[in-house]
Amino acid sequence: MPAPPSAEPAASPFIQIRGLHKSFDSQKVLQGIDLDISRGETLVLVGPSGEGKSVLLKHIIGLLHPDAGSIQFDGTSLCGLSERQLAPLRRRIGYLFQNAALFDSLTVAQNVAFPLIEAGIKNPAEIKSRVQEALEVVELDAHKEKMPINLSGGMRKRVGIARAIVGRPEIILYDEPTAGLDPIVTDVIDHLIKRLQKRYHVTSVVITHDIASVFKIADRIVMLKNGIVYFNGSPDQLRHSPDTFIQDFIAGRSGMTS
Ligand SMILES: Nc1ncnc2c1ncn2[C@@H]1O[C@H](COP(=O)(O)OP(=O)(O)OP(=O)(O)O)[C@@H](O)[C@H]1O
Ligand SMILES: [Mg+2]
Repeated sequence: MPAPPSAEPAASPFIQIRGLHKSFDSQKVLQGIDLDISRGETLVLVGPSGEGKSVLLKHIIGLLHPDAGSIQFDGTSLCGLSERQLAPLRRRIGYLFQNAALFDSLTVAQNVAFPLIEAGIKNPAEIKSRVQEALEVVELDAHKEKMPINLSGGMRKRVGIARAIVGRPEIILYDEPTAGLDPIVTDVIDHLIKRLQKRYHVTSVVITHDIASVFKIADRIVMLKNGIVYFNGSPDQLRHSPDTFIQDFIAGRSGMTS
């Protein structure tokens, strides 16, 4: 019997990645990634170090270009776009670099203002109020005149997050937002990620090695291994996976004996 017609057509994914391949010289990093990201979800990307998680994120924002395969952003193919054509799409994306990548010669407030100025916003009052709002979200408004060198690691990460959200992006890509932070600051940032999702319906992609964070924030988990998507499912499916590699990953077991 033919399937009954569905009442509503399936919404097309916000981000659609197909057959993505990327090598650096002879090193094959991404070897056929297929991945859909839906609007409003928090997708957590995990996997061993050096598997290409950051490389994948950089393709979504068009900082790296695929050797083969395609990336669609809200129905627009990123492949072959010039920097000028990418600019309006990039404004819809917030990106937290793995090392926060702040400008050392700019104050906290100037760092956070940077994407607004890049986007051509010139009104100083508007810039000031949006920077203030973003700094309040990460609870750093009292530190806005400081230079990055005088911030703690956790504060630097939060400045990076403020800079990622100040342009009110539709999607935020977080590359290890809590690496190297204490458990309390980690919890604050995890809550912040969820708050942004709830308050602004932001779509989030979060790379993390912190398994506690994974289960706190993920709607869906994707694991990269050997250049492909090794696992794609819910936190419960990950937790109950019979796969020994996944169970070792969750438990933090290396398989080494001392
Ligand atoms: N621009 C580049 N040129 C050459 N090699 C690169 C470049 N960018 C990444 N690589 C290589 O690609 C591989 C994957 O790097 P990537 O940074 O994506 O790993 P990762 O999964 O994010 O790891 P980690 O969890 O340690 O951050 C690494 O071997 C890295 O050296
Ligand atoms: Mg990385």
